[in-house]
Parts: sequence; structure tokens; C-alpha cells
Amino acid sequence: MSNNVMVQLWDGVAGSWDEHADFVDERGVEVTARMLQVAGVGAGDRVLELACGPGSVGLAAARLVTPGGEVVLSDGAPGMVAIAEQRARARGLDQVVARVLELEHLDEPDSGYDAVLCREGLMFAADHAGATREIARVLRPGGRAAIAVWGPRERNPWLGVVFDTVGEHLGVPVPPPGVHGPFALDDAGGLAELLTGAGLADVAVQEVDAPYRAATFEDWWTRTTALAGPLGGMLAALPEDSARALTQRMREAVAPYATEHGLAFGGVTLLGSGRRP
Ligand SMILES: C[S@@+](CC[C@H](N)C(=O)[O-])C[C@H]1O[C@@H](n2cnc3c(N)ncnc32)[C@H](O)[C@@H]1O
Repeated sequence: MSNNVMVQLWDGVAGSWDEHADFVDERGVEVTARMLQVAGVGAGDRVLELACGPGSVGLAAARLVTPGGEVVLSDGAPGMVAIAEQRARARGLDQVVARVLELEHLDEPDSGYDAVLCREGLMFAADHAGATREIARVLRPGGRAAIAVWGPRERNPWLGVVFDTVGEHLGVPVPPPGVHGPFALDDAGGLAELLTGAGLADVAVQEVDAPYRAATFEDWWTRTTALAGPLGGMLAALPEDSARALTQRMREAVAPYATEHGLAFGGVTLLGSGRRP
């Protein structure tokens, strides 16, 4: 197992991601479609998905690369890789393989891929610039990267409210200072600079709406705690009294997002793309 603590924490919550994998596919369907479009994925392509979790993006790409192409699903957490692989097998996608790869050091030769895809993963890398250079390195000349990261915390209240409320409840900032959380790459200009700095050309960043709806508070809270990654593990370890008080505090915090059809939160993803010259 990796000595990257972030990866170890993610591996610990892989089971919850398995349970909610269909929701994860569904929630990100628009972002996935845009990523495949900007990466120009098509028949015969070799495609690498990084930090794939249950593999939503790579599994969608797999249908586009036939005949003749291949998709490699990868994640730093072996538990996530196992889930992604199992989902590929269940779909009979023989053009898909899965392996453990860490963003910071891709154990892959230079220039091997026509496209590299990474949805809501690059921000967790310990070294953003180094990881982006790795993406550029494994692309063949002319190959394209599509990197989706969450936009600003205040524009993603479905998770921003959770971080704010847990922080107030525990009296500590969430995520802790120095830890790369989901909003660590939330600036469009910064993302563009990162891609350009890694040597990519034709760099563009677009916003993609990623709203979040849930029929009830309970549905949203159950899913959110299950999918909150390292934070999920921390919440699961709270004493019963504290967990109950936090749930009540959270219910009040999300009241402004209640509609007659349940909870409706806004959300925005930044989609960065570029081409290896
Ligand atoms: C928020 S999930 C996103 C999963 C998937 N890409 C999606 O959009 O549904 C973040 C993923 O990044 C992975 N991850 C975190 N740090 C990583 C690293 N340093 N190297 C590779 N994967 C990493 C986690 O294991 C987890 O699967």
C-alpha cells in the first residue's frame, strides 16, 4: 500500500464509493460528456483515466474507443481500482484494464496515451505541478488532457456547507491547513497556468454546471457522508452524541436549499483541457 496518507484515507472509504457508484456516474454525467468531447476520445485511442474512483469517466470512454482502442482505469487506492475493474468486467468491457497509479509518479512510459482524463482528482495530489507534468509526459505528441476539478467552495454549497458546518461543530478548519482538499484547485486562472506550466498547448478552462439534488435531507446526508472521502472516515468515528448534534446542525445549515422537491444545491466544476505539442 502507498505511503501517501491521502491515498490511504481514500482507500478506507472505497467500499462506500462502490455502494454509491451508480449515483456517482449519474451525478457527473454532464461533466463526463464534456471531458470526452474536449479530449476528442474516439475509435482506436489509448485512454488513461487517473484517480478514477469507481471509473465513471473511463467506462464511458470505453464505449468510444472501439474498435482497436484501450482504456486504463487507475487510482492510487487499490480498493478503488478493484471496484473500477469489477464494474468494467460486469459490463463486459474487454478493452478496459485497471491498475494502481499515483498521480505524483505515473508508473507509465512516456508518450503512451492519446488522452488522459481525470475528474475531481488532481486537487488531491501532494504536488499539483509535478502531477500535471506527469500527465503531459504520458501523452503522445498531439494527445489531449481533460482535467475536471471543483470550482469555488461558495459555489458548491452541497459540500461547502458540510465543510463549514463540520468545522464549526469541531472547532477546527476543514480541511486542515496544508491538506489539499476538494477545493484546492478552484481557480480557473490557476488551473490554466498549471496546464500551461506543464507544457500543454491550446489550454482552455470552461465551467460546467454540476447541480446536486436530493429527495430528502436523509438521502443527501447519507450519500454525502459516504462519499466525503477522508472527511467521511472522521465523521464515522464521532461519538454518538456528537454525531447526533452534528446531524441536527447540518439539517439547519441546509434549510436554505430546501424546495418543494427536496434539497437543491448549485454546483460548478472547472474543466481544464490542453494538448501536448
Ligand atoms: C473525489 S474522488 C473522484 C473519483 C472519480 N474520479 C470521480 O469523479 O467519481 C477522488 C479520487 O482520487 C483518488 N486519489 C486521491 N489522491 C490520489 C493520488 N495521489 N493518486 C491517485 N489517486 C488519488 C482517490 O482514491 C479517489 O478515488
